[in-house]
Amino acid sequence: MTATPAPTPPLPRGAAPDASDRWILRGDLLDFVDDPGFAPPDAAPGARWRADHLVLIEAGRIHAVQPAAQALPEAWRDVAVQDERGRLILPGFIDTHVHCPQLDVIASYGTELLDWLNTYTFPAERRYADPEVSQQGARRFLNALWAHGTTSAVVFPTVHKVSAEALFEAAHTAGMRLVTGKVLMNRFAPEGLLDDVEQAERDCVDLIDRWHGRGRNAFAVTVRFAPTSTPQQLAMAGRLCQTYAGTYMQTHVAENRDEVKWVMELYPDARSYLDVYDRDGLIGPRAVLAHGIWLDERDRAVLREHGAQIAHSPSSNLFLGSGLFDWAQAQRDGLHVSLASDVGGGTSLSMLRNMQDAYKIQALQGTRLTAWKALYTATLGAARALGLSAEIGSIEPGRHADLAAWNWAHGEVATHRDGLCRDLHERLFVWMTLGDERNLHQTWVAGQTVFASPP
Ligand code: GUN
Ligand code: ZN
Repeated sequence: MTATPAPTPPLPRGAAPDASDRWILRGDLLDFVDDPGFAPPDAAPGARWRADHLVLIEAGRIHAVQPAAQALPEAWRDVAVQDERGRLILPGFIDTHVHCPQLDVIASYGTELLDWLNTYTFPAERRYADPEVSQQGARRFLNALWAHGTTSAVVFPTVHKVSAEALFEAAHTAGMRLVTGKVLMNRFAPEGLLDDVEQAERDCVDLIDRWHGRGRNAFAVTVRFAPTSTPQQLAMAGRLCQTYAGTYMQTHVAENRDEVKWVMELYPDARSYLDVYDRDGLIGPRAVLAHGIWLDERDRAVLREHGAQIAHSPSSNLFLGSGLFDWAQAQRDGLHVSLASDVGGGTSLSMLRNMQDAYKIQALQGTRLTAWKALYTATLGAARALGLSAEIGSIEPGRHADLAAWNWAHGEVATHRDGLCRDLHERLFVWMTLGDERNLHQTWVAGQTVFASPP
């Protein structure tokens, strides 16, 4: 093993790695083996800190992890080492709810959810009917995720089949784990953003046939939210979930009080907003429900029984004035909770910035979110909730080499503060609270560089 920094020759993006593609990453590794919960920081349950270790990467996957001081296996002695000592190596983040086309409307002023959709979002999404707009949008979006240290995502495109195709295609080319599906919406949206039940079903089945399980892609039955689907369309979506086991389901639920009221007017015989989905068979272990701020106890019991997850979207919930998600209650009720940017309702693709907002949302309710819990949630927690922990979310032999190297500090204030930290949690918490995408040094998807900070 050599200690000399030897930059890994980046593989061309999209090349399928073969067994001869070996390299070694050296640095301080942090990942998780279990949920730290809301235990105080010094308990650090579930966190795994491995200072100065080597990650042996072969054909896009982690082959082994070992202390740098330990001799390398014979076959690895001449393999190039990328030396990232002094940086924090984490599994790539998993963003469980984000809208690709909404990079066009991120940071739009002055409205709550329902006005925001009509004023900004729907007009922007209409442009994605154009395949060229969809393809460019997908590429811009994936590049942006990588530039924020995110390597896997559960994504909303638009109602247009081409927008889902474009995302599948771009993710497949990069060898990235992506979950998406064309948005279902057949009412209460402008011309150009509406589908119908039969055509939508055909489009979904075709996308499932061509993309679900191809490379690292998975299909999600993507109901925008209850108001924009007729009962007939929701029933069709439920049939798809039941017929194509292994597909995901993504939607929004109980985000905003006016939205909840509207849903109860549209579906007066449902017990609750969540029940509108549940009675059509949409809630299962692969259901990803964004927000879930205004759920009640019975709703949470339904989610727990099904093993479904809430994609907590902190910056969006603050920006759109939607409400304060009670994460501690969700934890007590045994729910899976993942973290999501929900761009463009959310104001940043950065999972760090979303963790900062998550911390403040919990602080307002008397709960303290540790850096352990926040980082677990954006890595192994999300991977587990998605049923993908054998593939992503930790730095473990057999997992894909979806990794990110982070600088501990960016700028004078953070550098000064970082130097004063007395223990690992303090350092991580300062990094999480003061850091953002400017701290990111490099991102790898399946062992290949997809982002490198400018020198
Ligand atoms: N509910 C229905 N559509 C959307 C959307 O695009 N963003 C958010 N935050 N909530 C929604
Ligand atoms: Zn959303």
